[in-house]
Amino acid sequence: VKIQRPPGMRDFYPDEMRLQNWLLEQWRSVSRRFGFEEYEGPIFEFLDLYRLKSGEGIVSELFRFEDRGGREFAIRPEMTPTLARMVAARANALPRPIKWFSLPRMCRAEKPQRGRLREFFQWNVDILGVDDPLADAEVIAVAVEFFRKIGATKDDFVIRVNQRPLAAAALQALGVPPEHVQDAFELIDRFERVEPEQFAKAWDQALGAHVSARSVYDILHSTTLEALLETARQGGHAGAQDADRLTALWTRLADLGVQDSCEYDVRIVRGLAYYTGTVFEAHAKGTALRALLGGGRYDDLTGMLDGPKVPGVGFGMGDAPVLEFLRELNRLPDLSDTLDVFVIDADRSLFPQALQIVSDLRRAGLRTDYSYKRAAVAKQFRQAVARNAAYAVVVGSELPQSGRLTAKDLRTGQQQQVVADAFRRDPTEALRINPP
Ligand code: HAM
Repeated sequence: VKIQRPPGMRDFYPDEMRLQNWLLEQWRSVSRRFGFEEYEGPIFEFLDLYRLKSGEGIVSELFRFEDRGGREFAIRPEMTPTLARMVAARANALPRPIKWFSLPRMCRAEKPQRGRLREFFQWNVDILGVDDPLADAEVIAVAVEFFRKIGATKDDFVIRVNQRPLAAAALQALGVPPEHVQDAFELIDRFERVEPEQFAKAWDQALGAHVSARSVYDILHSTTLEALLETARQGGHAGAQDADRLTALWTRLADLGVQDSCEYDVRIVRGLAYYTGTVFEAHAKGTALRALLGGGRYDDLTGMLDGPKVPGVGFGMGDAPVLEFLRELNRLPDLSDTLDVFVIDADRSLFPQALQIVSDLRRAGLRTDYSYKRAAVAKQFRQAVARNAAYAVVVGSELPQSGRLTAKDLRTGQQQQVVADAFRRDPTEALRINPP
């Protein structure tokens, strides 16, 4: 029988795995540069954790199952609920600020499409315990640094920023009742991904009784930051505070040197229900790719999970959209597998000695391999080249008399004789290469 791979899932053959590991390394190294620590959580959680505050969009895409006791679980579709649960459980013991990152693998029952899969890795970067917009700016700076590190410039991507309370106030001013603001956010979140007629139809069905799709559409196309801030400041104390926070965020983005990669955008409201403040997404410029990352501030999540209130802000970035992005830019790294040394036996009677040398080299930390078949020297050299070995070391018939081996630098073609004993004691020194 032939059983296929499930749709939207990936196999990682070594070529793809090298690229995947490269990406995970970039994510890790940027996180560490900014002083974040790594954490992990379980691959599935009680279903209720996601029912709590992730919103309809995510709940409808859960892979869920029951255990034999009839308890309901779901494979994690995102990390934020797990993070909030973990922080809530130890809120008083954890030193602040909590600056954590994670590289979880997760599943969503989405329709697979370019950059959106059913199983993916998502880099999560979050700061908890800091209410100041500085934390919002800091996580955005992490994202910008990542893009720079992988060779993207500000012409290639943009971080689009908005603030939920301001967006909510604008919608309410239009006539959307407060209890429907989250529905409006979810519709607007899909706004750019669907045709205008589709948006209008969905909007009119859900909220047409209060506000026409047309007027929302106009707002989404024309509102400037200045106009929004002005309205917010006129709207009383809370509005003025929201406006001040957004202004403060903008200043901090400038202080951190990333403001030129950021843009205010009234259309960014995000679909997830738990965001309470800043919301942002990164988009590739000039392509129709969906968001490269999405995040925002969530100040009520730990409180809902029976913990004290710990404000949080962060983002998630998927592997699939980022790799698509790099592919489009033609900036995928050139990665090939390499060896330090390939050991060649000039004669099959020398093979046992060759194996001893292989063992010594491996013990010294060098990536070393050899041919499993006894073959002509020329053929073994070809294998060494095919495996991208830096050196070929030939165990030749002169070894018993002269005590020497031949080492060939395969990149320069230079050949040298090395004393076998010294070589076996310290191959790194003899070849002057550093183990990885
Ligand atoms: P999200 O907008 O659902 O937010 O996802 C964030 C990012 O994850 C997306 O922008 C995309 O890069 C990636 N992503 C989402 N779905 C898929 C998919 N099916 N295949 C590949 N990549 C995908 C969250 O998940 C929030 N929990 C992020 C967050 C962290 N907010 C605060 N902290």
